[in-house]
Amino acid sequence: MDNKRIIIAIDGHSSCGKSTFAKAIAARLGYIFIDTGAMYRAVTLYALEHGAINSGIVDESQVVAMLPQIEIDFRFNPQRGASDIYVNGDLVEGKIRTIEVSNCVSAVSSIAEVRAKLVAMQQRMGERRGVVMDGRDIGTVVFPEAELKIYMTADPMVRAERRFKELTAKGDKVTIEEIYENVVSRDKADMTRAISPLRKADDAIVLDNSHMSVEQQMEWFDEQYRRVVGC
Ligand code: DC
Repeated sequence: MDNKRIIIAIDGHSSCGKSTFAKAIAARLGYIFIDTGAMYRAVTLYALEHGAINSGIVDESQVVAMLPQIEIDFRFNPQRGASDIYVNGDLVEGKIRTIEVSNCVSAVSSIAEVRAKLVAMQQRMGERRGVVMDGRDIGTVVFPEAELKIYMTADPMVRAERRFKELTAKGDKVTIEEIYENVVSRDKADMTRAISPLRKADDAIVLDNSHMSVEQQMEWFDEQYRRVVGC
């Protein structure tokens, strides 16, 4: 579409299709797509599997002590058209989106040391530009200089229904009520935490996709992208 490689920052509420949207944009532009939520989920999974979370209670000092042992990397999976996430060489893509991880990830992602480690990694990944990164603090903290910032949202019930379909299609036994509860409580936790809370960057444009198809979102994106790159 052009030869000026930019950084596209996509922030917003949980389960509003940020990754689907970001992945489609990256494929269109030949950019790298980075799902930063997957990184916070991977740390949470590691903490769950190594005894730093018990009965849903996160032991912050144990998580911090574990951080040097957690090596995260992404490897492109041509079948998915996106990168899979690995922890210490193990593929964890399929294990990080369970309701158990979802219920603990906000607490883990509010730990300053966790954020410092992951933000530094994200900034390194964006050094060569040509990236679409989705998360909560990309336009505000990770890449405040990103050329195009999008703030995504959707009605909480619409989001819960989408996630419910996704999880039940995979065979997970979940109820719409528990997913709705998780969506709403994560919004609250993400927006009220002390460090890097989710908020719209002043120069971000809002996309409410409650009643939009992926195609309609891509049309909307094309307009915004043209405006930024000037073609
Ligand atoms: O995008 P997601 O739902 O997979 O993200 C999981 C959690 O990780 C989310 O509840 C908040 C946290 N997160 C964050 O704090 N900062 C980011 N850049 C991305 C995710």
